[in-house]
Amino acid sequence: MLKLETLISEQELQKRIRELGAQITSDYEGQEIIVLCILKGGVMFMTDLVKHIQVPIKMEFMVVSSYGDAYKSSGVVKILKDLDEPIEGKNILIVEDIIDSGRTLRYIKNILKERSPKSISICTLLDKVEQRETTVSVQYSGFTVGDEFVIGYGLDYKQYYRNLPYIAVNKG
Ligand code: IMP
Ligand code: MG
Repeated sequence: MLKLETLISEQELQKRIRELGAQITSDYEGQEIIVLCILKGGVMFMTDLVKHIQVPIKMEFMVVSSYGDAYKSSGVVKILKDLDEPIEGKNILIVEDIIDSGRTLRYIKNILKERSPKSISICTLLDKVEQRETTVSVQYSGFTVGDEFVIGYGLDYKQYYRNLPYIAVNKG
């Protein structure tokens, strides 16, 4: 097991998520959004975020698997579970746990673009800005983090720790 140290507390997370929800609400005023959670990492963030969005939303989920090892994504993504509905003419808000190289999201975004949505925006809880290896525009970002392996609040280490209500780093 890991020796955990809190990086972002539950209070800090919830405060920032309320702010993001308010910002999304004002940006989409008078419109509807399909909030698309990328499982499994995005699940905690999505369920808290949508509570603070005050325009009509639908929740959709996508499961993707990235080829490569546990720490580095290859950017070649296999869709294991797709959205239940067509997205033509809809506003899509992709909700992710963390963006690292950016490859996973870029791949997902390209797949979704072919389905002719009205718009696609990205909302990530955490952003490893300095690790970016490809261009992907991020409209909503919770926190910038450095090049450390972070866990908790949806993020896993070997599938464990997703249930932590805060973000932690391993100081083992
Ligand atoms: P990217 O394609 O390099 O942007 O990788 C993004 C994916 O890698 C995320 O959705 C996570 O599943 C995983 N990932 C990247 N950094 C971390 C981390 O620090 N902790 C846990 N998962 C991470
Ligand atoms: Mg992920």
